[in-house]
Amino acid sequence: MNSSGANKNTQTENTGELNFQSILEDFYARYRRILAGGSEKAVALHRSRGKLTARERIETLLDKDSPFLELSALAAMGQYHDQFPAAGIVTGIGRVQGRYVVVIANDATVKGGTYIRETIRKHIRAQEIAIDNHLPAIYLVDSGGIFLPEQSRVFPDRDDFGRIFSNQARMSAMNIPQIAVVMGSCTAGGAYIPAMSDESIIVKNQGTIFIGGPPLVKAATGEEVTDEELGGGDVHAKISGVVDHLANDDVHALQICRNITGTFPIPDKQTIDRIESREALYPAEELYNYAEVKSNLPVDHFAIIERIVDAGEFHPFKAEYAKTIITGFARIDGYKVGIIANNGVVFGETARKAAHFIQLCNYRKIPMIFLQNITGFIVGKKYEHDGIARDGAKWIHAVATSTVPIISIVTGGSYGAGNYAMAGRAFDPRFLFMWPNARIGVMGGDQAARVLTQIKQAKVHKAPADKNQKTEEEVYNEIKARYDYESSAIYSTSRIWDDGIIDPANTRRILSIVLEISANKKWKDHRPGVYRM
Ligand code: COA
Repeated sequence: MNSSGANKNTQTENTGELNFQSILEDFYARYRRILAGGSEKAVALHRSRGKLTARERIETLLDKDSPFLELSALAAMGQYHDQFPAAGIVTGIGRVQGRYVVVIANDATVKGGTYIRETIRKHIRAQEIAIDNHLPAIYLVDSGGIFLPEQSRVFPDRDDFGRIFSNQARMSAMNIPQIAVVMGSCTAGGAYIPAMSDESIIVKNQGTIFIGGPPLVKAATGEEVTDEELGGGDVHAKISGVVDHLANDDVHALQICRNITGTFPIPDKQTIDRIESREALYPAEELYNYAEVKSNLPVDHFAIIERIVDAGEFHPFKAEYAKTIITGFARIDGYKVGIIANNGVVFGETARKAAHFIQLCNYRKIPMIFLQNITGFIVGKKYEHDGIARDGAKWIHAVATSTVPIISIVTGGSYGAGNYAMAGRAFDPRFLFMWPNARIGVMGGDQAARVLTQIKQAKVHKAPADKNQKTEEEVYNEIKARYDYESSAIYSTSRIWDDGIIDPANTRRILSIVLEISANKKWKDHRPGVYRM
């Protein structure tokens, strides 16, 4: 870490208190754990079959100099007794033949590549990103379909397993190219992935596609048939025509896939304002000094902005007015952006200033970066009388109807209606990333514990005395511990409430990649809703 900033966040080391370095190390330790995929035994078996791992397949597919922006790497962490590293699927964005594509790769070393709820959420989220940014999708298929013990949580609802296939049809109708490379099992509903792609490839003596596998066929009709005879590579390339290309092995299949991407149409891109990039003013690692770990402390967003924009140059809008929101223009890796960053509690004028700025960005077609550290809107009689709800509504309207891309980064806390105003997930930011120290919840642990303690105590006073009644302190501690646990970045990312946790030092680089991606499709014109004046 750079010396400037005097390592504010390492001063508490060895005192048992939270500090950013230990949070960052914990994040990387978890990330290293999921890189291995499934158990050693499962990986050894996978390799003995002549297959590459999911991550090796992605590396082979992408251009040698391509970045790979992995999405929700820590999905399912801390759930299912940690039997589903990365939720058994690797998703992300990288370049093939110079073009950005979304890659969705099953990891067959994790329970046969089967789908739990988080696997589906990751798959669908990657497809949404492909739709929002008009990116081609490449499916590297090696999966036993639904993880059967979880069927009630993954099968029947709108955004369950079936959504994958309905998305494929919709994406095709939007002229988004899709390629499936069948590198292992592709069973039941999963058979529709290659069948609904524009072109599909299968690996000989390795890939299989069938609506019902041999045991099901035997049970249903009594017919005895092997995997290969039922739906192997030769069957689908030579008899059924379900696939278009027969590959000898993984590497050959990925080479065919790369060749196909060379035939994709050139996208109709948004014209964007980009000039030559200038370096950031300070080393990226200095951002660690501003990753606040205590929920009640403000985040110094001026310092953070200075460290992610080109040459530290930021042109504020309404700098002297409503200072609890920072708004202004800058460039990141040469791309012009509008930046909105919290700088304290939200008052009526804060909301009006933010709504005004968001309109400017939309009309000028400038993408926006939201830096979130928000506890919520000001409460109290005076503010209700002044109409804080009406002013907050303007801001939320402006965010919801924005048509330029919004990229949200949670640098601190994201609480209550503040989460909505600052482009939380319900407001469809193109991407939403969390710093490892970030927190998200309806309110902070302390506030929630106080509110609920008060409600519970009010009930206790009315009811007859109970000697087993918990003390006020016990109730408070219990609620606070639960809220603190459930609002951590790890808890959020495990459930795919975000697109992943990022190292603060990578913020600028990741913003540059997603800004480029978000201009892959033309942005619509802005049409705001009715603002209550
Ligand atoms: N549901 C739940 N668990 C499943 C599963 C499924 N659909 N498919 C595989 N698994 C589990 C296995 O029980 C095993 O678990 P374990 O590691 O705890 O022992 C693990 O995944 C690996 O399966 P295994 O059969 O040992 O590996 P494999 O590589 O030889 O074969 C498959 C993988 C996917 C080809 C094979 O398991 C299979 O055909 N599964 C059934 C697929 C199916 O019919 N799906 C229909 C659902 S839509």
